[in-house]
Amino acid sequence: MLTTVSATFIRLKTVDSHINLHDHDKDPIMSDSHYDNSSEFVPPKQASVTDYFFDRSVKLVGKQGETGYQEKIKTLNSLATSTPEVIAEIGLKSVEIPEDIHAVTRENNLLGDFYCPDMIMECLDDNGIQLRENDRALDFGCSSGRVIRTLQAFAPHLSWYGCDPRATSIKWAGEMFPEINFFRSNERPPLKTLHDSTFRLVYAISVWSHFSRSRALDWFNEMARIIQHGGLLIFTTHGLRSIHHFAEVKCSMPATKAEERLQSMRHGDYHFMPYGSSSPSMVELESNKDWGLAFAPRSWYESNLSGNWKLLQFKPGRLLANQDVYVFQRLK
Ligand SMILES: C[S@@+](CC[C@H](N)C(=O)[O-])C[C@H]1O[C@@H](n2cnc3c(N)ncnc32)[C@H](O)[C@@H]1O
Repeated sequence: MLTTVSATFIRLKTVDSHINLHDHDKDPIMSDSHYDNSSEFVPPKQASVTDYFFDRSVKLVGKQGETGYQEKIKTLNSLATSTPEVIAEIGLKSVEIPEDIHAVTRENNLLGDFYCPDMIMECLDDNGIQLRENDRALDFGCSSGRVIRTLQAFAPHLSWYGCDPRATSIKWAGEMFPEINFFRSNERPPLKTLHDSTFRLVYAISVWSHFSRSRALDWFNEMARIIQHGGLLIFTTHGLRSIHHFAEVKCSMPATKAEERLQSMRHGDYHFMPYGSSSPSMVELESNKDWGLAFAPRSWYESNLSGNWKLLQFKPGRLLANQDVYVFQRLK
């Protein structure tokens, strides 16, 4: 069965020029092993956030010698337990996320995430964008804040906002990280409390990968309202690499489903399957017909976002060798 998926994957690789695997080959890709620590791990091209915190900790605790990307993150996490004063000194906060609070991962996560903050900074850097003092940035669908808390500590001169419909996550994050403006959002637009053109940057990690087609488009329209002209929307979503990831690496997607999604993407279509109201992924969420697993190719995003946006960058599989990363700029 899996051979069939492989064959289709390879066929798509050679036939579909709109799925830009050439770029993918040039881009350093991390394997899915970021959290399970297997030997396939490939570090990100740039690690400005991780390096910033790691180097500061080294200055305080002494020389560490040659250290790989994952080891740096592990070292920072172990310092959180062994020498919390060092962690406080470098501007991070060590917090265990309670079991009943939503979090994408809890492993090596006492200090929040480093990989996604590195990825966001890499996207800004690749495009020559420097955030200025007082710029506002939003983490859309932030859960309990694993990404934004690290970014805020890295760039405290910006105003950071995080929103999510899960009330318990937002409440917990707001109490733990009062320097970030957390607010609960509705599952459908608008973001009522926000004025037009509020943000220079909005990013969303693994959020558009779950919207139905119509909900995805509605939220893109809302992003066009709240992002300033020239501002950026960086989001991740499932593409061709995700099929490979789920069907062949994780072996968690049946071959027939993989084929169906691949065929849909070959035709430039959006493929969506709701989780269903009984799914654990729906805890605290209401709109069960608009939240599930979405897969779409670059061509779909390019044609549907063409009016308000310019695609600055497409990074296939850049999120843990699974989701694609898009960098769109709000047009004037
Ligand atoms: C896979 S998690 C990713 C969380 C976070 N971005 C991260 O990387 O840790 C998806 C998040 O999107 C949130 N979400 C669900 N429906 C949403 C909606 N309609 N608008 C915004 N976020 C939503 C979920 O509550 C959840 O926190």
